[in-house]
Amino acid sequence: MKHLIDPTDLTLQEIDDILSLAERIMADRSAYSEVARGKKLATLFFEPSTRTRLSFEAAMLELGGSVLGFSEAASSSASKGESVADTARVVEKYADIIAMRHPKEGAPLVASMNVSIPVINAGDGGHLHPTQTLTDLLTIQEECGRLKDLTIGFCGDLKFGRTVHSLIKQLCRYPGIHFILISPLELRVPDYIKEEVLDRGNADYREVERMEDVIGKLDILYMTRVQRERFFNEEDYLRLKDSYILDMQKLAGAKADLKILHPLPRVNEISVEVDKDPRALYFKQAEYGKFVRMALMMKLLDLPERQKEVAADAEG
Ligand code: CP
Repeated sequence: MKHLIDPTDLTLQEIDDILSLAERIMADRSAYSEVARGKKLATLFFEPSTRTRLSFEAAMLELGGSVLGFSEAASSSASKGESVADTARVVEKYADIIAMRHPKEGAPLVASMNVSIPVINAGDGGHLHPTQTLTDLLTIQEECGRLKDLTIGFCGDLKFGRTVHSLIKQLCRYPGIHFILISPLELRVPDYIKEEVLDRGNADYREVERMEDVIGKLDILYMTRVQRERFFNEEDYLRLKDSYILDMQKLAGAKADLKILHPLPRVNEISVEVDKDPRALYFKQAEYGKFVRMALMMKLLDLPERQKEVAADAEG
């Protein structure tokens, strides 16, 4: 395991190991507070982020390491025309691991091909977001107790939503998964995801336009915002942005143990009144993201698990 560019770069066993390590970290945080002492994470964010960048940085700090980086392309030499490959080549002289977000699909892959330190894709355009997928898997594992035999509704912008593409790609690898894809016609899952993933995987799926018709069948409802930044014109965005607004009235038809997830940021697709419902897990989900990123970086950096192991190593 060297880079994480696509969720399927990890075997199911490796994913299981990362989730188990995240669980151990959550159970005993202080035991991991020094394991990355002397290690540096570079966060190269060419696109805006709150959760992903800050949870990566918090994760490395909580492991005892340090962070450096930039949060927008304008404050890096990309604004002067430097290539992703050259940026990565330089940053590997300063850091031990890179987390990169970029508006262009494939940019983190290009970076990974030019360096000898681990590169993590922190979201590339409308393509993939593998660490959000790990976050979602940890949330599902903790809150549903399993990663199989689940009916999952994805709702909203399924065309541009990279978190949806990534999670579908991963969940197809588990048995007994049923997808219900809820979106307007214009925002359906792209054909390549259907052909390369859904039609070849274990999971079955159907596409619908009305949330109310299917909400009662769902174990998980994964809401997404309509991605304004990926639209070609503002008119289409304005027409589609309020296609779905989850409120208490719609939730009346849902299971009592439904789990409501959202990668965030939310715009207005979930009414704030839903936040106090115990089925609303999206803020907890964001917290799981920090722990799973701690576990991922420990694995990619091949760090010894326990402080006492570090001490034992030091003693020889
Ligand atoms: N879920 C997620 O990627 O959020 P940010 O864009 O704030 O990082």
